[in-house]
Amino acid sequence: MRGTIRQATSSRCGRSWLSALVLAILVALTLGLGESASGGLDALAATEGADVRPPEASGGNVPGQALGNTSDSQFWREIRRGMEGTVSIPDKKLGVLIQSEGENWRAIRNGPLSLYGSWLMLAVIALLALFFALRGRVKIDHGVSGRTVQRFGLVDRFAHWLTAVSFILLALTGLNVLYGRYVLLPVLGPEMFAALTQAGKYVHNFIAFAFMLGIVLMFVLWVKDNVPNGRDLKWLAKGGGLFGGGHPEAEKFNAGQKIIFWVVILGGISVSLSGLALLFPYSFSFFSGTFAALNMLGADLPSNLAPLQEQQLNQIWHTVVAIVMIAVILAHIYIGSIGMQGAFDAMGTGRVDENWAREHHSIWYARLTGRSGRGASGQAAE
Ligand code: HEM
Repeated sequence: MRGTIRQATSSRCGRSWLSALVLAILVALTLGLGESASGGLDALAATEGADVRPPEASGGNVPGQALGNTSDSQFWREIRRGMEGTVSIPDKKLGVLIQSEGENWRAIRNGPLSLYGSWLMLAVIALLALFFALRGRVKIDHGVSGRTVQRFGLVDRFAHWLTAVSFILLALTGLNVLYGRYVLLPVLGPEMFAALTQAGKYVHNFIAFAFMLGIVLMFVLWVKDNVPNGRDLKWLAKGGGLFGGGHPEAEKFNAGQKIIFWVVILGGISVSLSGLALLFPYSFSFFSGTFAALNMLGADLPSNLAPLQEQQLNQIWHTVVAIVMIAVILAHIYIGSIGMQGAFDAMGTGRVDENWAREHHSIWYARLTGRSGRGASGQAAE
């Protein structure tokens, strides 16, 4: 009896030793796996020079040597592109497990886009400063006459300032999103910068609608005066009077202004559409259709873009168009303010000096007043 008990005790004892051993192996394995997962990179670094090739492809099965009937390339393609049609959750976008293009987008946004964008804007500012230093203010050749003519009515000026003020707010808050962390964060500190950027984001989102309204108003009011014609080519050939002396003839808007107008209208539409697509994510897909149309013209672009790719392209496009517009508008603000004597009044009071009108918009002035658009010296008004 005692022998039987001793036997049973020793076999129980043996079993508990065995369980302890199995448990110890399991713990060691778990710790080892955790260690290799977290310290994988260290391990890689430590094996520098050693053969660290990944294990052989699993020969048509899923990676990790597990069983499966999908090829490795197909498997990873589906992980990257999304398992369209096979995901049962309502939000099919979540079928994309790894979105490789996101890394490209991040690299482009924080790399060349930010860098070349800042160069472009700084180059325009430097050129304008240089032009001002060399040429000075463009004066009214025949001096201020003291008599004025009406150039823009109240509605014109409302449309202009609605667009201008909203554009400037959009530009400042938008540039803060792109460059604020480099320029303002070190000066303001994280709390202030976060509060400012948060407020800026709301300003950007809501003011966008005022800008869109301004664009529509400007188009309706001024498109009839901005249709390009042959006279614009002559104006451009003379550089608007910079080359060859004299002021080339112009109607209500000269060729330079027509260019500004169309940049504002077309750029404004484009920046608004891409902005709406950013404001209401995944509601639009502009790029797949555009790329498909371009492919019909011989391009070779991906036309079956995932929703997230659409968003990323929208963001890049929105920024590119906005920065080009800012560069153009910087030049416009210069010429409409300090760059040219008498210009600001057109959008200030709405009335301009007669000599300014005769020199810069001779045909418009002649039509408006019935008087000759020629300058006081008898030379064609510039
Ligand atoms: C402080 C900023 C600005 C100033 C001082 C300014 C000044 C002016 C002036 C004086 C005119 C009338 C030119 C003339 O009589 O021939 C004008 C026209 C115009 N402005 Fe502005 N502007 C400013 C900002 C903007 C902005 C931000 C936009 C659009 C985003 C804009 C778009 C236009 C357009 C499309 C015209 C008509 C075409 C032209 O004259 O170039 N302006 N502006």
